[in-house]
Amino acid sequence: MPSPFSQYDVHVSLGNALEPMNERGHMVNMKTILITGGTNGIGKGLALAFLKQGDRVIVVSSSAAKGAAFSEEAKQLGALERTFFLQADLRLAQENKRVVEEVKRQFRSLDLLILCAQAQKFSTAYVETKEGFEKQFALYYLSRYLLSYGLKSTLEQADNPIIVNVCAPGTGGSVQWEDLQLKHAQKFTSLKAIIHGSRLNDLLGVAFVENDPKRKVKYILYNPGVVQTEGVTEAFEQPILKMFIKLLYTMIGKSVEEAIQPILELAEHPPQSALAAFKARKEVSLSRELFDKNRAQTLFEHTSVLLGRA
Ligand SMILES: NC(=O)c1ccc[n+]([C@@H]2O[C@H](COP(=O)([O-])OP(=O)(O)OC[C@H]3O[C@@H](n4cnc5c(N)ncnc54)[C@H](OP(=O)(O)O)[C@@H]3O)[C@@H](O)[C@H]2O)c1
Repeated sequence: MPSPFSQYDVHVSLGNALEPMNERGHMVNMKTILITGGTNGIGKGLALAFLKQGDRVIVVSSSAAKGAAFSEEAKQLGALERTFFLQADLRLAQENKRVVEEVKRQFRSLDLLILCAQAQKFSTAYVETKEGFEKQFALYYLSRYLLSYGLKSTLEQADNPIIVNVCAPGTGGSVQWEDLQLKHAQKFTSLKAIIHGSRLNDLLGVAFVENDPKRKVKYILYNPGVVQTEGVTEAFEQPILKMFIKLLYTMIGKSVEEAIQPILELAEHPPQSALAAFKARKEVSLSRELFDKNRAQTLFEHTSVLLGRA
């Protein structure tokens, strides 16, 4: 079977992705970082920043063309041999599992897992994947659940492993316990599903650390605030609305370069606690009901049943 890692992946084609070595055959001290949604917006900004720092970066996204464009940028930086692109549609549980298996096969450890993949095109249609999950629920929540738990043992091989789940802690909304995928919502919109997904990700972070006796992997829920990315400024098709959002984001949004700074700092100096949540540089209190441990456990159990059925 051909490697799912892109043709731009020099390491995999040479078969030495497991151990980064210098020309003298000595181990190279660089971090290995996996970024979902690393071909656009915040994920891409982070991926390029880590490459500039000398780290090696595995980028996952669904578009081969964007992967090729990213590899081209990495080449311009002289970092192509530290760049790995893995094409996967993360809305599918089976694709997430394939990513986990491939990463485990090719890399001995992971220092940082950054979860940024998101589809922000506005839609009023409730659409399920072929596995029977609502698309937004599948990408924004299930994928992050599968990758967080699936890559945990690989992260634990690193000295100070961290998961950064870029979502929206510190914002409002509540979990629809009877209708987790919003199938019966009065008026379904992708925006409602994203807001709901943010609450599910809050609980994912809580359950992840509560279910982990080792507590070696730190979990950071991170809300970047309003950021000028293509994902949000191109979210609406309607021309006037699109123009308005673009204008609004130009006025109140921050650039990707500005938005990624606190994440880079957290990756370098993570908080002491196993779980932390931030809105830009401000810590979000975990004492709120949204981070309730019992609810987090209920969601964890519910999710494993859902995935078991799929
Ligand atoms: N921008 C903001 O103002 C803002 C505010 C709060 C929170 N956030 C959060 O920050 C994160 C990043 O947002 P962003 O605005 O930077 O995103 P973005 O510019 O829309 O980029 C999204 C990334 O996700 C990938 N992606 C989309 N569908 C995918 C799929 N099915 N499988 C795999 N990858 C997929 C895209 O690549 P492909 O198209 O190639 O798949 C792209 O690389 C998101 O989690 C978002 O919720 C953003």
